[in-house]
Amino acid sequence: MKLTKITLGFFTAATILIIGCSATQTISEESLGIRKTSLYSENDAFPVKTEYIKKAAGESKLIERAFENAPPMIPHNVEGMYPITTNNNACTGCHLPAVAEAINATVIPQSHFTNFRPDTSLAKNGKIAKEGKAVTNTSDFKVIGKPLTKLSGTRFNCTQCHVPQSMTSSAPKNEFEVKFRAVEHNKKSNLIDNINEGVDTIN
Ligand code: HEC
Ligand code: HEC
Repeated sequence: MKLTKITLGFFTAATILIIGCSATQTISEESLGIRKTSLYSENDAFPVKTEYIKKAAGESKLIERAFENAPPMIPHNVEGMYPITTNNNACTGCHLPAVAEAINATVIPQSHFTNFRPDTSLAKNGKIAKEGKAVTNTSDFKVIGKPLTKLSGTRFNCTQCHVPQSMTSSAPKNEFEVKFRAVEHNKKSNLIDNINEGVDTIN
């Protein structure tokens, strides 16, 4: 009698286990990645197809800013505009303030005509001087920016920050939601005003 009970109990447990196991989904190792091809072979793995905007400068539509004061994406075709070299920068040919307005190109902003780096030198006594003032702790020296009459060297290589938009469907999806403090910031930057807020610039 006792034995029958135990045997019955064992069979019930085993049945539950089997049912339980058969309800568990199995996923093959090859399909663990986002790509749909085997993780063990590169033969069928191709990058997602992407297309750059073909519209020429002057015919393209501006792309909304990704976030406030993000460097805007280049909305037009850039074929023939690279490489940017010391003597040849096609971007400045259209975007410098002197020409941009006339051809309806966004003007390079004031931030790109500002030197944010303080003059730094090492005095004989080993002290570091920033803008001619000896400083013990270099982080104590706050300099906001000196307006320049020409484009800052740090902004010469436009494509270091501004890149053409490539159209593709990406997995996983980008769920970033942007919040602009003012609606117009979705198509206009105001970085220099933000930086200079309440601060005297060194002239
Ligand atoms: C032939 C003139 C021309 C050249 C060269 C040119 N652009 Fe443009 N760019 C424009 C015009 C015009 C627009 C406005 C959109 C349009 O009409 O296509 C624009 C728009 C842009 C924008 C978008 C600005 C915004 O407000 O969203 C960026 C960024 C940009 N260009 C960067 C560049 C960079 C970087 C280069 C060099 C690789 C370059 N452009 C070369 C004329 C030009
Ligand atoms: C070090 C990164 C960097 C480089 C290099 C750079 N930019 Fe920008 N650019 C930015 C950022 C960030 C913004 C947005 C904030 C601001 O106004 O500075 C911007 C904004 C702009 C805008 C939009 C201005 C507006 O009123 O909304 C234009 C046009 C532009 N840049 C053109 C250029 C061109 C042309 C070059 C090359 C001559 C260049 N940038 C080089 C980072 C850069």
